[in-house]
Amino acid sequence: MSPNADFLGRDVVSARDFKRDQFEQVIQGVEDLEKRRGSLDGALKGKLAALLFFEPSTRTYSSFQIAAEKLGMRVSGFAGPTGSSITKGETLHDTLRMFEGYGADVFVIRHSKMGAARFAAEISDTPVISAGDGSREHPTQAMVDLYAIRKAFGRVDGLKVGMLGDLRYGRTSSSLAYALSNFDVDITFIAPDALQMRPEVTQLLKQRGVTAKKESALKNVAGELDVLYVTRIQKERIPDPTEYEKVKGMYEVNLEALREAKPSLKVLHPLPRVDELSTDIDDTNYAQYFVQAAGGLPLRMVLLNLILGGVG
Ligand code: NCD
Repeated sequence: MSPNADFLGRDVVSARDFKRDQFEQVIQGVEDLEKRRGSLDGALKGKLAALLFFEPSTRTYSSFQIAAEKLGMRVSGFAGPTGSSITKGETLHDTLRMFEGYGADVFVIRHSKMGAARFAAEISDTPVISAGDGSREHPTQAMVDLYAIRKAFGRVDGLKVGMLGDLRYGRTSSSLAYALSNFDVDITFIAPDALQMRPEVTQLLKQRGVTAKKESALKNVAGELDVLYVTRIQKERIPDPTEYEKVKGMYEVNLEALREAKPSLKVLHPLPRVDELSTDIDDTNYAQYFVQAAGGLPLRMVLLNLILGGVG
């Protein structure tokens, strides 16, 4: 069997669709790449990546762009609604058809509507990678997050992971919870009621036998955690502005909040941060978020290479 049989030509629309050995295969690929055992530079020479970002993005767009370019691919598309015909009302369907006509070998799609990546995968034979859709899924970020955990601890099993922030509207925390459900971890969702994790996520964890509990405040669990995954309040996704006013500024992770934390605690954040993660953590051993962001590049190289069947 070819080493990328599980990935060749496949869509990446939900972290629910991946099994433990597939997450491990991606992580292993990144570890190999980082040790320079197999450089992937130029492995996908001549192929075309269409990056279709209907929502703004900094890290995800640029890491996919640089990853594709390092692989030798040509890159086309757009990095947000401005600068494209979306503002004129062009649909996802028509955009896909057009880029298929230009010979795209892969679509990387970010969209504000839940299910947009799944829809794209259904109507197109070209592999689709979700770069975040709606408030539910961001599967490649979950892979980046898993890799950051593995890099910090050398393992994922046996860790106590706290997820703090806007778990209801944030897509990175649910995708990470799906990914972690393949490992032997203990998860605590830390959020005020209005922002707590959605039932479809907690139900899946239960079905998969993962220990998960809910807490309202970090101080109740800060001393137990190995990993603290912090997320911002998704202001743009909260349907009612008065709901946002009620929750804004409700939590901030700073040195004081980590007074009880283990010295080995690692703080992760998918970024961007607003006011929920203080810069006073940046220069401490807790900070893993810039290492985490840097991992996005090799990880997306490995993933594109597995899907498009490059050498290496
Ligand atoms: C996240 C996203 O877009 O969901 N950003 C990212 O991809 N790193 C997180 C966020 O916007 O809060």
